[in-house]
Amino acid sequence: MTAFDPALGAHLDATREARLASYFDFLRIPSISALPEHAGDIRRAAEWIAADLEGMGFEHVEVCPTPWHPIVYADWLHAEGAPTVLVYCHYDVQPVDPIELWETAPFEPFVRDGRVVGRGAADDKGQLHMHLRAAEALFAVRGRLPLNLRIVFEGEEESTSASLPAWLEANRDRLSADVVVISDTGFHEGNLPAITESLRGILYTQIDVVGAPVDLHSGAYGGAVENPANALARIISELKDRDGVIQVPGFYDDVVALDEAARARLAALPFDDETFRRNLGVPALAGERGYTVEERRGVRPTLDVNGLWSGFAGEGSKTIIPAHAHAKVSMRLVANQDPNRLLERFTKFVVEVCPPGVTVSVQQLGTGRPNSTPIDHPVVRSAAAALKATFGREPLFIRGGGSIPVAEMFEQQLGLTVVLMGFANPDDNAHAPNESMILANYETGIRTICVLWDLLGRDGIAGAPR
Ligand code: BES
Ligand code: MN
Ligand code: MN
Repeated sequence: MTAFDPALGAHLDATREARLASYFDFLRIPSISALPEHAGDIRRAAEWIAADLEGMGFEHVEVCPTPWHPIVYADWLHAEGAPTVLVYCHYDVQPVDPIELWETAPFEPFVRDGRVVGRGAADDKGQLHMHLRAAEALFAVRGRLPLNLRIVFEGEEESTSASLPAWLEANRDRLSADVVVISDTGFHEGNLPAITESLRGILYTQIDVVGAPVDLHSGAYGGAVENPANALARIISELKDRDGVIQVPGFYDDVVALDEAARARLAALPFDDETFRRNLGVPALAGERGYTVEERRGVRPTLDVNGLWSGFAGEGSKTIIPAHAHAKVSMRLVANQDPNRLLERFTKFVVEVCPPGVTVSVQQLGTGRPNSTPIDHPVVRSAAAALKATFGREPLFIRGGGSIPVAEMFEQQLGLTVVLMGFANPDDNAHAPNESMILANYETGIRTICVLWDLLGRDGIAGAPR
């Protein structure tokens, strides 16, 4: 690849301040998908994006209603003979609690130490904004794009994308594309450019244990009835053994073991367990016996309690047998695990190990399937070339431990290859207080996107069926 298009470079240099102001405007909208009181903000964010797309030259811009949060669609399809890329990002963000741990207000973004700080700065409004600004620069400088783009920006990714499957099905026709590019992942530890070759799926559940209709005096009744909190603790302790192996019968049945080449690729990544541990601030790392840290957090399934509550948690003491106890338990899934099948096995096991004297039930709160990209796909090669041309080094191929439910839907439902090219950094505090995005990743990443569109426009998708 030759040098970055000088006209585009000059435009991007000249519009830096305006770009940052627009990024901040977007981040100021508290588009939290999980909280009903923010439904209006979600809508405002969708409309903000739609106005932006409309203004720069996209067509068929639509804030599409769904049963829950809207999806923003737009396209520009005038690059005859060039490939069509579908770009996906999400404009919703995670809740901000614990709010007291934020050093500044989550929706009042600012720059500190070369980072944009604020909820959504990295996951994923910052990366969505990079796509907006890359397209805008191309439209402004050349009056056109080098390839055809379809835009799908989602508003409920952080809440398991419940509306998406039906919307994708109903919009099949306008979602035809040669490839999907998702920017909702990140670089490798140390801010090393990376392409994510797989993501885990998820099965999110809630376990509810119920005893008596009301709390009981633990002196008058303790010893004579089962305690729902104790029972829940027993259930949870049965879920994994001391080696970190999940005990639900059949849990690993469908897991496809990583082949040696993939295992070796993972082992070759620059990664130091001790540095990783220190940066996390934990006394020791833990996980499934027989696997490396990179395998445990990227390609092995997990089971974790995400929340736990019961009885009296206030100051001092209160002597009760709580009437009920609850746990949010999620499992990260890998190829070829099926969340629905695992829900059945999980529920059966929970019921089996629950002590008598209480009733237990399991609710399903969301699912997503794992996905993977064939890394020899020509668009992956183009993405790698674009990263190399702009960030100055070959990207690494990493495994994403997180989940983006739509990735597998694009693959299985619509038969599209998905390339995961994201620009966040592992220490961005995604989902946590003081989320941030490295400004240089944002700026250089905009150039990466421009280069990728140029490469695909110029070379097409060599070897891929059109
Ligand atoms: N951007 C993340 C997914 C991600 C995280 C990919 C880390 C790679 C590494 C996404 O916004 C996310 O947080 N997804 C949720 C999905 C869930 C709500 C269904 C997740 O992984 O918990
Ligand atoms: Mn995300
Ligand atoms: Mn997220």
